[in-house]
Amino acid sequence: MDRDLDLRNDAGSPSLEEAREEAESLRALIRRHDHLYHVLARPEISDDAYDRLFRRLKEVEAAHPALVTSDSPTQRVGAEPQDRFRTVAHRAPMLSLDSTQDADEVRRFHDRVVKALGEEAPVGWVLEPKLDGASIELVYEDGVLTRAVTRGNGREGEDVTRNIRTIASVPLRLREEERAAPPLLAVRGEVMMFISDFEAFNARLAELGDEPYASPRNSAAGSIRQLDPRVTASRKLDVLAYDILALEGDSFTSDRAGVEALGQWGFRVPDRIEGTDSVEGILAYHAAYDADRDHLDYEIDGVVIKLDDLGARERLGMTSRHPRWALAFKFEPRKEVTRIERIGIQVGRTGVLTPVAFLLPVVVGGVTISRATLHNREELVRKDIREGDMVRIQRAGDVIPQVVEVVEHPDQRSEPFSMPVTCPACGSEVHVDGPRTICPNRFGCPAQLKGRLVHFASRHALDIEGLGDETSGLLVDRGLVHTLGELFDLTVADLVDLDGFADKSATNLVEAIAARRHPDLHRFLHALGIPEVGVTVARDLANHFGDFDRVRAATRDELEEVDGIGPRMSEAITGFFADARNAAAVDGLLSRGVAPRVTDPVRTPSGAAGKMVITGTLSFPRAVAQAAWESVGGKVVGSVSGSTDYVVAGDSPGSKLTKAQELGVPVLDEEAFVKLVEGLGGRVESE
Ligand code: IVH
Repeated sequence: MDRDLDLRNDAGSPSLEEAREEAESLRALIRRHDHLYHVLARPEISDDAYDRLFRRLKEVEAAHPALVTSDSPTQRVGAEPQDRFRTVAHRAPMLSLDSTQDADEVRRFHDRVVKALGEEAPVGWVLEPKLDGASIELVYEDGVLTRAVTRGNGREGEDVTRNIRTIASVPLRLREEERAAPPLLAVRGEVMMFISDFEAFNARLAELGDEPYASPRNSAAGSIRQLDPRVTASRKLDVLAYDILALEGDSFTSDRAGVEALGQWGFRVPDRIEGTDSVEGILAYHAAYDADRDHLDYEIDGVVIKLDDLGARERLGMTSRHPRWALAFKFEPRKEVTRIERIGIQVGRTGVLTPVAFLLPVVVGGVTISRATLHNREELVRKDIREGDMVRIQRAGDVIPQVVEVVEHPDQRSEPFSMPVTCPACGSEVHVDGPRTICPNRFGCPAQLKGRLVHFASRHALDIEGLGDETSGLLVDRGLVHTLGELFDLTVADLVDLDGFADKSATNLVEAIAARRHPDLHRFLHALGIPEVGVTVARDLANHFGDFDRVRAATRDELEEVDGIGPRMSEAITGFFADARNAAAVDGLLSRGVAPRVTDPVRTPSGAAGKMVITGTLSFPRAVAQAAWESVGGKVVGSVSGSTDYVVAGDSPGSKLTKAQELGVPVLDEEAFVKLVEGLGGRVESE
């Protein structure tokens, strides 16, 4: 670039003004064509003509860097990689929806709302597809995109603005041709990878020898959580907007008017939003979408039913978790029929042998399935599943696909599958324990070691990024790791030559492992894979004993002093530490400087918040309620007595409620429980 020219421009000469005008008109043109192409799918100019406009804008901006604005179409990708994402609060809570698969429940929901509103006139509903992607909040200030945040726990999420900016259907600046931009707008939408783009993307990953994503949703969620925005930019993503979370300087009285405005501001909105005022209309919409599901290029897992009138929504309000004015009416889990080509065996970390069906690959709801679990020997016998059979498989959400039943089999059936007598991974003779078949070679079996590494590194254990199935397998197969402790000896040089590794990924893994030298005690206890010790028991042990040496040295009696630990668990725990090889594995970790962080023990049997008993069904898992109560210093116990401080009663409570009433123990409903936790500075969160 010519320096003199640059100086003249900075001084505000006419050429700078001309350039500013040219840049602005180019941006307006490019925005218009982006919208036509990416949002409306109605391009008006050729790709070449578009590229010329874009190149010209880049030239003008390169000649006059002072003219570059953050909302310029040239600035979608630009940021350098980050180390991590910041956690930020949402403008307004991102609620989740109550859901059902049952038409009768939908009728009851409909009747309940109609009754609660007590109106003569029919109630107006909006019907939408329930998009199966990753939920996102987009915030616009004075019409400019300032922030994009993942759903997280509904109150706060990760700031992924730099990644979301790379998605072409997200306006960096709101369109104002039809409606003025408000001072503040927060929009909720779903980041989607269309099925065709997903398939092309997975095919490319396969060519490169990389692990494919399991579903378009995983792929969308994974893509927006890339630390390098250039990676996100290379993925074909879209955002469909369906809800206004916060708005200043404009207002609507109905959902549909709001969604229409979203369209005018330049967002892509879901197809086929419809209205109805009858339950029959709702059921018909659900049935029609279900029938069309396989012909759509995006994944949906149901339809969403919402009250259209925003004033009526306000009157109905919400329960502790869900709005009362909306319901997700989900589709039945997807099932398909395919053939079992072979039945094989997988050996897990505890030595359990699981029979697995290898299938003729079949697409179930946009995901290619080539294997499904057969659970155990008894299940195999009960369902009489054999190689060559045509079977119905089912996939529900992220759950491992299952074989539901045999639909048809060849006249000449193969022999029933019988479980092996030796472990396919190490050759040891197996033990049979009820329905389970177990490889006893706990320390010599490579399959068990792989499983232990995966568990050690998993999210609720040490949470070591990059140490999943595949890498653990490589480490064991190459003889790089024989014990958990040896993970901490790995060097970049050990890893760099492994398949799929390069300098950077090797360094990342070594650093990720080193960063876990001081884990929280409860994570460490869980990571060891002690039989019977899941997340909750690990937490109880950590709270009670406070440091690792005390847990390790505890006698059975001492262990049984911990609420919730009975004879079976105490035996499993002492048995684990008494085993010389487990002891060696633990010492191997400690001698390498792994030092679990000591937590302050909660010594009193009842913590500050008190003892609580839960009965009946809550809208969130009990483990969530328990974790929330413990986080504020409380204790959850199994039975009601005079020393119980509260009983939380969900739907269909049991005799514990009667007992509480007899003893005069305060009874809370779900909503009151959530309030109490929040009042004590905690929160109830599912994710
Ligand atoms: S409305 C309070 N509408 O489904 C109402 N949600 O639990 C806010 N979702 O992950 C949600 N499509 O992101 C709404 N058309 C749609 C939706 C939708 C997908 C997602 C949402 C959340 C889940 C609801």
